[in-house]
Amino acid sequence: MRIIVCENYEEVSKKAAQMILSQVTLKPNSVLGLATGSTPVGMYKNLIQMNKERYIDFSEVKTFNLDEYYNLPRTNEESYYHFMYENLFNHININSENVNIPNGMAEDIEAECARYDEAIKESGGIDIQVLGIGNNAHIRFNEPTVNFEKGTHLVELDESTIQANSRFFDDIDDVPKKAITMGVGAIFKSKKIMLLACGENKAEAIYNTVYGKVIPEVPASILQFHNDTIIILDKAAAKLLKKEDYKTA
Ligand code: F6R
Repeated sequence: MRIIVCENYEEVSKKAAQMILSQVTLKPNSVLGLATGSTPVGMYKNLIQMNKERYIDFSEVKTFNLDEYYNLPRTNEESYYHFMYENLFNHININSENVNIPNGMAEDIEAECARYDEAIKESGGIDIQVLGIGNNAHIRFNEPTVNFEKGTHLVELDESTIQANSRFFDDIDDVPKKAITMGVGAIFKSKKIMLLACGENKAEAIYNTVYGKVIPEVPASILQFHNDTIIILDKAAAKLLKKEDYKTA
């Protein structure tokens, strides 16, 4: 794992966008694994700006999103489908046929999960996977559990995740209790992984990810085994790390 610590959220967002820029410059038909949540929003803003200024071209890029709420229509403003179009896809020159987001409304969820895994495989696999991390060290919606689930699957959300995500809903009871998420198996197949974390509330999850035992109770700890993972943090999220273990941007 390479760890880079930036001054603040703005710098993390810039650095992350530059990583995507170099990926897409080197391989214009890159397959990007994308995340929702607050953390990548700044990176998306930078990418939109770069696309406006024609530094980056998304016309051949393919994307796969990590997850989607179960049983929440795409038209719902809190769906991840809506989030991705609002925060990125509506503002860049991506071909919507190249955008993949799990369908949380599918009648046969198992078939949908299998279809999603197959589509990733058919695309040649993910070149760079962007990840955020939950306060409980979940990546995607792989909640702390007793085993590492490999493929895309339906998951019951942790109480702490429901609590954290309630900030986007009028009422905590409106937060979906289940989601479809890519499994940790797809992480390992991603050629590169870029984990972003900002804020003091992520410091402990980052500490456990970097120094902890690799156990499913700390889903992100599995990244210790991946051979091309970069973690980009702000100072607050890096607060518990030893200085010799990271570089400053
Ligand atoms: C998002 C996702 C989640 C978030 C995590 C952190 O697609 O799968 O794992 O990355 O919950 O969310 P934020 O960035 O809002 O703190």
